[in-house]
Amino acid sequence: MKHIPVLLDAVLHELGDLTGKTVLDATFGAGGYTRAFLDAGASVVAFDRDPGVLDDVQDILQKYGDRFHFIAKPFSKMAELTEQFDAIVFDLGISSMQIDIPERGFSFRADAPLDMRMSGTGVSAADLINQLSDTELAQILREYGDVSKSVVLARAIKAAKPKTTFELRDLIYNPRDIAPVFQALRIAVNDEMGEIKRALSVMPNLLKPNGKCLVVTFHSIEDRIVKNIFRELTTVPGNPLIPVAAPVPFKLIRAVTPDANELENNSRARSAHMRGIQKSY
Ligand SMILES: C[S@@+](CC[C@H](N)C(=O)[O-])C[C@H]1O[C@@H](n2cnc3c(N)ncnc32)[C@H](O)[C@@H]1O
Repeated sequence: MKHIPVLLDAVLHELGDLTGKTVLDATFGAGGYTRAFLDAGASVVAFDRDPGVLDDVQDILQKYGDRFHFIAKPFSKMAELTEQFDAIVFDLGISSMQIDIPERGFSFRADAPLDMRMSGTGVSAADLINQLSDTELAQILREYGDVSKSVVLARAIKAAKPKTTFELRDLIYNPRDIAPVFQALRIAVNDEMGEIKRALSVMPNLLKPNGKCLVVTFHSIEDRIVKNIFRELTTVPGNPLIPVAAPVPFKLIRAVTPDANELENNSRARSAHMRGIQKSY
């Protein structure tokens, strides 16, 4: 299924007139956000670490030419950019395409190798399970999935060494823990929390004066991280993330969740929140 962008109207509404503006789309996906920014008259630099997005990248390059530039890297590499942007937007998590291709190993609904790597490189979920101690695996299950009886389950998973999604699924005795266990492993395999923390630590330098950073999150752990980083940027004087002294360096933008219409039309929108801040120096 083609990915349906979540909270796109809310993002566009918050960014206002994009004519002649520059936008950094940290999570290109199927290019839903990028296309909307380009159609609204912006120039876009986009990141994605999944090589599966390249067909959509080619389509957009053909249509919009040099108003679009794509970087096939993790978005924490935005630290290497030297230009500044009017807006930086993150639409976190995985896309419908990633879930829908069984061989990617993200879904517990299809039997496939236990992979879960967004970039297709590095350590797969099956290998990560082998590398972690029982305690480390239990901590991941607890922290990123709020999984009940995480110590007992981690021990069972370590002992069984699952190689496929169904082998892992069948070890999880409480059906309510299946989705959270898969989510927790995916977050760990892709270092999702490290990526967002690193990117948000360089974001202040990459925004133009009055520029906005918007982040769409899909679960409470990443939402809490974003909320806390944004709160620090707006309240703590002398914050090392902020390069110059300013009386009120960032203003919080009111958080938004999907309306009833979006929830009805897109089940992926269920847990989404859009948070934002605006630079005022
Ligand atoms: C929810 S989708 C984005 C959908 C997009 N906004 C659209 O409308 O089509 C998230 C995308 O971000 C990518 N992604 C997630 N974390 C990333 C990271 N740390 N660096 C680069 N890309 C990442 C995933 O590969 C996926 O394609």
